[in-house]
Amino acid sequence: MITASETKLPRISTALPGPKSQLVIDYDKKYMSPSYMRDYPFVAERGYGAIVEDPDGNAFLDFAAGIAVCSTGHCHPKVVEAIQKQAAELIHIAGNDFYHRHMPQLAERLVKTMPKPQDYRVFFGNSGTEAVEGAIKLARYATRRDKLIAFYGCFHGRTLGSLSLTASKNTQRKGFGTLLGGVEHIPYPYAYRCALGHTKETCGGEIIELLEQQIFKRLFAPEEVAAIIVEPIQGEGGFIPAPLFFLQELQRICNRHGIVLIVDEVQAGMGRTGKWWAYDHAGITPDIVLTAKGIASGMPISAFIAKESIMQWKPGAHGTTYGGNPVCIASALATMDLIEGGLMANAKTMGDYIFAKINDWTERFKTVGDVRGKGLMIGVEIVRDQKTKEKAADLRDRVIDNAFHRGLLTLGSGENSIRLSPPLIIDEEQADCAIKIMEESIQEAEKSL
Ligand SMILES: Cc1ncc(COP(=O)(O)O)c(C=O)c1O
Repeated sequence: MITASETKLPRISTALPGPKSQLVIDYDKKYMSPSYMRDYPFVAERGYGAIVEDPDGNAFLDFAAGIAVCSTGHCHPKVVEAIQKQAAELIHIAGNDFYHRHMPQLAERLVKTMPKPQDYRVFFGNSGTEAVEGAIKLARYATRRDKLIAFYGCFHGRTLGSLSLTASKNTQRKGFGTLLGGVEHIPYPYAYRCALGHTKETCGGEIIELLEQQIFKRLFAPEEVAAIIVEPIQGEGGFIPAPLFFLQELQRICNRHGIVLIVDEVQAGMGRTGKWWAYDHAGITPDIVLTAKGIASGMPISAFIAKESIMQWKPGAHGTTYGGNPVCIASALATMDLIEGGLMANAKTMGDYIFAKINDWTERFKTVGDVRGKGLMIGVEIVRDQKTKEKAADLRDRVIDNAFHRGLLTLGSGENSIRLSPPLIIDEEQADCAIKIMEESIQEAEKSL
C-alpha cells in the first residue's frame, strides 16, 4: 500500500538533476573515489516499492533495482520489520568463531532450492565477488588442480581473483598488472551475433567443440582444470542467456573430467527469471552455485552453495568476519519468504507480459537489434543498423538518458545494450509505463540518426 505522498508511477517536477540533487553530486565529487561510474545524475533519497525519489521530490520508476538487488522492491515493510527486529536482538557475533541459529536457518532455506538439498553446504560472504573468490579457492582445494575456464563477456567481480575471470570491459582490468595465472577464456554463446547463424536455442555447439578439441588438447589437459565458471545469463555482459543445451553440455564435460561446474547466479538468481535459479531452466545440477544481489533486498550478503562432496575443507581453510551477519540473514529470510510467496511467480508473469509487448521492437524500431532474456531480466541491444549490427553505444546511452528524464531508471549492459531488471513486485500498470517510456526514449534517440 502506498501513502498519500507516495506514487506508483514516475513524477518529475524539476529539471534533472534538481537543485538538491546537484548539491549531493557536488559533495560526492569532493570526497569520493573517481572510479565510480555513474551513467547519469540520479541521486536517491528514499525508496518504496518500485519507486525511488530524489531529494527534489522527483519520483522514478526503478527498472534497475540497484543492479538487480532490490528484488522485493525498496524497503518492503516485511523486510524492514525483519531487519529492525533482528537489529534490536543481535547485530553481529562473527560466524567465523561462534555459532548462531541464523546461519543454518538461511543455509537450510538455500539448499532447499537445490536439486538435491541434502547434498549441499553453504558458506556466507558479503558480496558477489567474495562468493566467487571462495568458489575459486574451494574448487582448487577440492580438485588439487589450478586451471580455470571462464567466458568472454562474463563479469564475476573486481577483486583480484574474480577479476582474473571477469572479461567484460578492459577498463575493469587495465592498470592492475598480472592477474591469476591459469585462466583461459572462451567465447560465450551470443545468438544475436552468432558467426554460424545459429538460433537462441542452438548457438554454442562450436564453443563446446573448441573447448574439447582445442583448449583441452592444446592448452590445458582437462585433468588440470579445477573449474568452469559460467553465468547462465550474462548480466554485465549484455543480458545474454546461454542456450539450455549449452549449460547441459558444460555439465556433461565437467562430469566427464571431474571439473567443478560453478554457476554464477549473482545477477540472474533469486527468482528473477521465474525460477529460483536461471540454471533451473536447463535442469542441470551445478557443483557450486553463487548468489548475492537479490538474496537480501539490499542488505550485503552472499553465499556459495557447494556439494558436500566438494566442500570438504578443513577448519581455517576459509573464513570471514562479517559473512552471515544476523541482520543480513533476517533480511534474506524475509526476502525468500516473499519470493516464494508470490514474487517468483510474478517475475514470470510480468516477464511474459513485457516480452509479449516488446518482442516486436526489432520490427518497430530500426535501432533495436535484439530483445532477449527471461522473466524480469530483459536485455535490449541497440545498433546503428539492423543489417550490419553495428554497435551503437552512443545511441544506447541516449536512450538511457531519455528514459531517466522521463522518470525511468535503467542501466547499460555490455557495449551497447540496455538492461531492464525491475524489482519482482512490479504490476501491469508499471510495466506498461516503463514500456511506454522506453518506446518514447528510443524514438527520440532515433531522431538524431
Ligand atoms: C554475475 C556476477 N557475478 C559477480 C558479481 C560481483 O558482485 P559484487 O559487485 O557484489 O562483488 C556481479 C556484479 O555485478 C555479477 O553480476
